Amino acid sequence: MPEVPSSILIVGSGVFGLSTAYAFTQRPEYANTKITVIDRSPFPSPDGSSIDTSRIIRADYSDPAYAAFAAEAQTTWRKTSPHDLGGEGRYIESGLVLVCNEGMNPYVKESFENVRTMCGYEGAVHELPDRSAIEKAVKTGGGSGNWGYLTQLLLCEIELTDLDQRSGWADAQASMIFLHHLASSTNRITFLIGTATSLIFSPSSSVLGVNLSPSQQLHADLTILATGAWTPSLIDLRGRATATGQTLCYLPLTSLEQASLSSMPIFFNMSDGCFIIPPRNQILKVARHAYGYSNPVTIRNPSPPSTAAYEKQITISLPRTTWDEPQQLVPSEGIAASRTALISMIPSLSTRAFTSARMCWYTDTPTGDFLITHHPSHSGLFLATGGSGHGFKFLPVIGERIVDAVGGTLETPLRERWRWRSDEEIEGLNGDCEDGSRSGQPGLVLREEMERDAKKGSKS
Ligand SMILES: Cc1cc2nc3c(=O)[nH]c(=O)nc-3n(C[C@H](O)[C@H](O)[C@H](O)COP(=O)(O)OP(=O)(O)OC[C@H]3O[C@@H](n4cnc5c(N)ncnc54)[C@H](O)[C@@H]3O)c2cc1C
Ligand SMILES: *[C@@H]1O[C@H](CO)[C@@H](O)[C@H](O)[C@H]1NC(C)=O
Repeated sequence: MPEVPSSILIVGSGVFGLSTAYAFTQRPEYANTKITVIDRSPFPSPDGSSIDTSRIIRADYSDPAYAAFAAEAQTTWRKTSPHDLGGEGRYIESGLVLVCNEGMNPYVKESFENVRTMCGYEGAVHELPDRSAIEKAVKTGGGSGNWGYLTQLLLCEIELTDLDQRSGWADAQASMIFLHHLASSTNRITFLIGTATSLIFSPSSSVLGVNLSPSQQLHADLTILATGAWTPSLIDLRGRATATGQTLCYLPLTSLEQASLSSMPIFFNMSDGCFIIPPRNQILKVARHAYGYSNPVTIRNPSPPSTAAYEKQITISLPRTTWDEPQQLVPSEGIAASRTALISMIPSLSTRAFTSARMCWYTDTPTGDFLITHHPSHSGLFLATGGSGHGFKFLPVIGERIVDAVGGTLETPLRERWRWRSDEEIEGLNGDCEDGSRSGQPGLVLREEMERDAKKGSKS
């Protein structure tokens, strides 16, 4: 068991950082540890991937380890008194309809079978064998795709056990604000605003804290990087984690449309990655879960001065958000995909314009597993990242497991999933996230798409 640090600095206050900070305050071993959380922007961060109108909460993973962990998270989400995370409308159990064109994605059938097995009760998950069954389940008038399944509480009459599977969604920003309030009210955490520009290394390559500017430093016994898609700018994670941009398009609704769509389930198309979460506050969101766009930038290798890599330039993908450019444009390729999805999923809205669009950045690992581990060669540094587009649902439980990992008590199978992979293991991987759930085209580069759009624009 590693010694209990007397000070812990958590960089980043998204799902990973904030839940970890709170979990430390709940552990008696850390009662005398000074806990600091720093984020580059005031909470809630305007471009953090944890902050948005909605996030899907579902337990139907094809990997039983994540399925069980997500089921544990969902047990908490389903508690809906005002004092619970899932209360006051922060969690809604709408059910989820997953569709795909048969034969296109083996992942879908695998997770369907897995959910059925885990449930031990077929009623919790319904196979939708054809288009008309899908149409009936989604209640939006849309429904192409020829195979799907529905997970919904309303359709099963028996009392389900811990492992029951049902799906819903959370108001992401409201949930994060709730947890931030809970964490602040412990009076154990110092929250700071500032950007970590680099790690402070000792001559032996231990991490001693972070630099905020040439003259300003923060020191800690243990530094935890929970910096989401920005993490590769602070430590070399090539082949292990990279930022990929995903598109989000928003459409305002009339109050009548809001009312009629509020009982729709989440509608997710595994064949093209597009999904629609039931609207709230007269805003409908169409999003895409895909390989996404990379945003290659060249920086100085953030490895410590003592290593051969120091002072070498490396090219990595990092987020480019509305923080960097307030009027951020989204590639027309992404908007067109959302449009196609809207037409087939909610035909009555097919002619309505999106009024805003933005990019949201995943921290993708090659396998889609999180990266939650002590750094193998820099003592004093812990990584809590690699959300790979599916981290939000674990908000109620991930901090506890991260604290376990810090203390060396995280058990398999999660420890095995979240470990640091050897150079041999990652060799030959091209960095794409091959978690089985991604559709769309791999290898899209944001800048190239924008240049293509600019050319098209100047011609027309
Ligand atoms: C469009 C989209 C849809 C998603 N949908 C789902 C879903 O339906 N279900 C689900 O479970 N998950 C979903 N996810 C994934 C989930 O949202 C993420 O896995 C999770 O939010 C990641 O949290 P994080 O703490 O790693 O990152 P973030 O929330 O991005 O937090 C990182 C923080 O670090 C700060 N930071 C960065 N660099 C520095 C620095 N140098 N110094 C100081 N602070 C810094 C940032 O300001 C930010 O607040 C989705 C993600 C996106 C983008
Ligand atoms: C899902 O995507 C596939 C592939 O793009 C498409 O053929 C199908 O019509 C889509 N289904 C829905 C319901 O949008």
